[in-house]
Amino acid sequence: MSSIHERTYIMIKPDGVQRSLVGNIINRFEQRGFKLIALKLVHASPPHLEKHYEDLRDKPFFPGLIKYMASGPVVAMVWQGLDAVKTGRAMLGATNPLASAPGTIRGDFALAVGRNICHGSDSVENAEKEIKLWFPEGIVQYEATLASWIF
Ligand code: TYD
Repeated sequence: MSSIHERTYIMIKPDGVQRSLVGNIINRFEQRGFKLIALKLVHASPPHLEKHYEDLRDKPFFPGLIKYMASGPVVAMVWQGLDAVKTGRAMLGATNPLASAPGTIRGDFALAVGRNICHGSDSVENAEKEIKLWFPEGIVQYEATLASWIF
């Protein structure tokens, strides 16, 4: 069922950070209408990244993926809003940039699957898991109290 409170975990990978795409990516989520409810820059350890990608542990690209993800800081974010998981995935584009439509983040900025700029949860269940893994300290909830100041 659709919920306006649905949350997704979006992460800008080390290549996205180092190519100065953080502002552009945040802007896209803000403009689409999502609400930012958590944000931090983290240089994640290999064990932490192995947990994040545990479903891919047996894939041949797994060691290279962990090395790339641990090569520099990432921006960890939680965005909230109607159908945040599915719409977030649509905004990212296909995993392989060769198949990512122009207008998507990967379709606009990436060329190689091993350097595809961003991560987004692929289900509501995985989003909840990833949010707990990356934000064990919890998330501050807030309401838009300034609405009466926006004309
Ligand atoms: P996956 O979870 O399948 O894709 P997505 O990020 O779109 O949810 O894979 C996780 C990451 O692993 C992907 O973003 C890039 C990397 N990867 C490779 O390096 N090679 C590959 O062949 C695949 C499928 C993924």
